[in-house]
Amino acid sequence: MSTEIFRYPTAEGAAAACGDRILALLDAAKRERRVATLAVSGGSTPRLMFQAMAHSGFDWNGVELFWVDERMVPQSDALSNYRMTREALLDAIGLPDARIHRIAGELRPEDAAAGYVAEIMRVFGLSGGELPVFDVIQRGMGPDMHTASLFPGEPLILNETDIAAAVFVAKMEKQEQHRVTLLPGVLMRARQTLCLVSGADKAAALRNVLREPPNPLQRPAQIASEAMAWYVDDLAYARDIV
Ligand code: 6PG
Repeated sequence: MSTEIFRYPTAEGAAAACGDRILALLDAAKRERRVATLAVSGGSTPRLMFQAMAHSGFDWNGVELFWVDERMVPQSDALSNYRMTREALLDAIGLPDARIHRIAGELRPEDAAAGYVAEIMRVFGLSGGELPVFDVIQRGMGPDMHTASLFPGEPLILNETDIAAAVFVAKMEKQEQHRVTLLPGVLMRARQTLCLVSGADKAAALRNVLREPPNPLQRPAQIASEAMAWYVDDLAYARDIV
């Protein structure tokens, strides 16, 4: 496994660099396989990255866009990861709806998860039991070291055979508790994982994730694919991080 760490003075710098790397990876994937697959995360950190990507002039033809996770709210809800991506990126790049594979937050969690799994299997041409290999998975990390919607102690962190599942996050606010998330088996197969982390509130978590022995059940952000790259700002990059 390779781990790269790229540090920038500001969150904007880390976000722009992470976005540039995504586009370069997608371009290489399209050259090699005509199609490129990307799964992005939500929350607040990626907004700056999406805004930078939106003005890059990149040719999005051939890109299939998915989400790492979604809150079970309507797509119009301020908590929707899809809405944030649409506002910051999708409205600017004209990616056809057929290439945008959102998690249907308006459905019952189990139904949304089943529908998402079926969509992934359709687009990747998978048979039962097969897992997709994304060209790029962009992830975030919470101050508690969660990633995707896999929070410390979540039994689904041990599920390396299924594609996605509904999950209940008791610690979150009311509306953010029910989610659908990609599962570790998929996260671990990404050709390249890019983790974008910024802010002082993430410094302790980032240090532990990068320095402590692998224990994804306790530190979900340690779920790793063969190629990991961290794009972080100075505030998140604690002095003794490596
Ligand atoms: C979500 C995200 C989640 C996110 C972290 C960091 O739906 O919340 O997918 O995994 O990456 O919670 O969130 P911030 O970027 O808001 O700190």
